[in-house]
Amino acid sequence: MDHFDLRDGVMHAEDVALPAIAEAVGTPVYVYATATMERHARVFREALAALPQPPLVAYAVKANPNAAVLATLARAGLGADVVSGGELLRALNAGIAPDRIVFSGVGKTAEEMALALRHGIFQFNVESEPEVEMLSAVAHGMGTTAPIAFRINPDVDAGTHAKISTGKSENKFGVAYDRAHAAYALARGLPGLSIRGVAVHIGSQLTDLKPLEAAFGKIGTLIESLRRAGHPIRVADLGGGLGVPYDPAQPVPPSPAAYGEMVARITAGWDARLVFEPGRLIVANAGVLLTRVIRVKQGVAEPFVIVDAAMNDLMRPSLYDAWHDIRAVAPDGRRFTANVVGPVCESGDTFAMHRPMEHVAAGDLIAFMTAGAYGATMAGTYNSRPLTPEVIVSGNKWSIVRARQPLEALIAADNLPPWLVAEETA
Ligand code: LLP
Repeated sequence: MDHFDLRDGVMHAEDVALPAIAEAVGTPVYVYATATMERHARVFREALAALPQPPLVAYAVKANPNAAVLATLARAGLGADVVSGGELLRALNAGIAPDRIVFSGVGKTAEEMALALRHGIFQFNVESEPEVEMLSAVAHGMGTTAPIAFRINPDVDAGTHAKISTGKSENKFGVAYDRAHAAYALARGLPGLSIRGVAVHIGSQLTDLKPLEAAFGKIGTLIESLRRAGHPIRVADLGGGLGVPYDPAQPVPPSPAAYGEMVARITAGWDARLVFEPGRLIVANAGVLLTRVIRVKQGVAEPFVIVDAAMNDLMRPSLYDAWHDIRAVAPDGRRFTANVVGPVCESGDTFAMHRPMEHVAAGDLIAFMTAGAYGATMAGTYNSRPLTPEVIVSGNKWSIVRARQPLEALIAADNLPPWLVAEETA
C-alpha cells in the first residue's frame, strides 16, 4: 500500500499535490512519502514480532540511500545493511548506531574494513576465504576483533530476474554450501576474528516464499552441523529479497505476515538472533518518479509519449525489463495505448511499449509508480543529464532532499589536462 492517491482528480503524495512539487522543483523529480516508509517499517517489524529473540532489521541502504530516507528509517528503529564505505558513512550520519549495522558485499577493501572496524559495526558478512584472510590481517593489525558471519550460497534458484538472483552456485555471491565447514575452520585459526553467525541472501524481488524457505532450511541444517563442529553460531542473517507489487494485474507477492510466519516456523529451535536486510519492501512503494510529457509523436501503431525522465533517471525498465505502473497525475477519464519513452538516444530508453494507460498529452504530468527503491540511487548522467532531484513529503509538508544538479556543476566536474588548456597569449 502507498500514500499516492487522487484527491479532487489530482494525485497527491500524502497531503501534497504533485503538480505543486513539479512547479517548484521542475521535472523529473523523485517524490517520497514518509508515511509509506514508516508503515512498511512497522509492518515488517510486526510480522516478526512472534520470534523468540528480537531481530535486527537492517535496512538495505542500497535500495535508497538518501539522507532523509535513512534518517526517517533510523527514527523508525531500523538498522542498516551496507555494502561500501560510502553507505556505511551515510548510515552513521543518519544516526544509525554502529551496533545495528551489518557490512555485506563481495569486494570489501582493506580501507573499508578498517573504517567499519573503527566504528565497531555489528557484523561483517564475509563472502569468501580470501576476504576473511584480509579481514583477519586488518583487524589483527588494528589490535581489534572483527565479528563475522560467512554468507553462504545455498544453491537455490530464487525464481527472479537473472540479474538480481544471487543464490545459485554459479553466482558470484557467498561461500559455496559444501565449502562452508572449511571456511569456518580457516576463520577459527586466524587472529582478529570472532565467529558469530551465518548469513544468506538469495536474490531480490522474490514473489514466492518456497525458494526462501528452501534456503533457510539449508541454513538451519548448516547451523546445527557448524555448532557440532564447535563454532559458536549465535546470529543468522536471512537477508532481504521479499518482492513488492509492481503490476496490479499480477498476483500480489507474499505479505510480510506470511513471510514472518514462514520464518518463525523454519527457524523455531535455532536459538539464534535473526537479522533481516529488507530494502525494496521498505521503500519501493514510498516513491514515484514524477515526469512531464515533452511531446507526443506519432508511431507506426501507437503514439510515442516522450517524457522528460529517461533511462539515466530510472534504469530498471531498460536494465531488467522492469514493469512500473504509469499513471497520469491528473487523469482526464480517457485511456489510450502508448509507448512511453525518454529523450536519451538509445532504443533501450523505453519505459513501456504498447501500454494501455490513462490518456496524457504534451505538458501533462505522469508518475512512474513504485520507484522509491533502486530508482534515484541507480541514476546517472548519461547524455549529460543532471542527477535527478529528490523530494520528501510528510503530511502537508515537503522538502527538497537532493537539489537538482546544476548543469554548470555537471560540466565543471571535468578537468582539462595541462596540454589542452588554452595558452595565455601575451
Ligand atoms: N541484502 C543483500 C546482501 C543484497 O544484496 C540485497 C540486494 C538486499 C539485502 C536487499 O534486497 P531487497 O530486499 O531490496 O530485495 N537493482 C535491482 C535490485 C538489486 C538488489 C541487490 N541486492 C532492482 O532494481 O531490481
